[in-house]
Amino acid sequence: MLPKFIKSMVPLKARVRYNNWKVLGTDAGKNPLMFGYNAAQTDRDRAIQSQFETYTTTISTPVAAVSLELARFLVAALHKLQPRVAVDLGSGFSSYLLRNYAAQCGHPCVVYSCDDDAHWLQRTADFLTEKKLSSDNLLLWDDFCQHHAHIVPDILLHDMGNSVRRISELPRVLDWCSKGCVAILDDMQKPAVREAALAGIKQRNLVAYDLSLATYDSYNRFSWMVFSQDKERELARKFTS
Ligand SMILES: C[S@@+](CC[C@H](N)C(=O)[O-])C[C@H]1O[C@@H](n2cnc3c(N)ncnc32)[C@H](O)[C@@H]1O
Repeated sequence: MLPKFIKSMVPLKARVRYNNWKVLGTDAGKNPLMFGYNAAQTDRDRAIQSQFETYTTTISTPVAAVSLELARFLVAALHKLQPRVAVDLGSGFSSYLLRNYAAQCGHPCVVYSCDDDAHWLQRTADFLTEKKLSSDNLLLWDDFCQHHAHIVPDILLHDMGNSVRRISELPRVLDWCSKGCVAILDDMQKPAVREAALAGIKQRNLVAYDLSLATYDSYNRFSWMVFSQDKERELARKFTS
């Protein structure tokens, strides 16, 4: 344990990285999906930034939407993983990113965007319509669970609702990880969410990486990435050799 006065001299971002390394036991830089990641390169034409600015000034706010940092990382991860099924829990700018990818990727990619709040699903639909993107499969989370729960997403972003909601939906998300899904858990700066995630990850023998290297933002928010050990081996073979 560092003495308090020394601790206060270490930048918060560095402390976050250290704490995540300590609890997760993985080196953030060795995440196969972080390999070669370059935020500026991913958004070299600033298209992501420009759409983010539009979304957060006309529909939502920067503090409620996924961060621009995570937005860029998510786009890079989509290009690497080339998912057939992508899901975002907590609709909004993330839904735009997934659907924009699906519209341009040149292979079949079905996107489901879910929320526990019908108002925010409608606001997401408004934005997607304005951007001439599909607003199919915009669903209330309960409806998704009732009719589509058998689907295992290739990639999923968990960014839905308040902390209580996030925690209550974690088991379903982590069970998907055991079956091959790559999940990004946002808002891991919240201790209760982080502790619940950690317990679920350990219980299922999953692998988790700190994404703060790429996703730490001006509100001190950051994400983790979770997948199975088999998936980690598959990703390492594909992206690190
Ligand atoms: C962090 S937000 C989800 C953000 C979404 N993934 C995005 O990229 O825009 C979490 C929840 O807050 C609600 N929400 C979205 N935008 C909001 C806003 N501007 N104000 C209040 N609640 C909002 C939605 O119900 C959503 O599930």
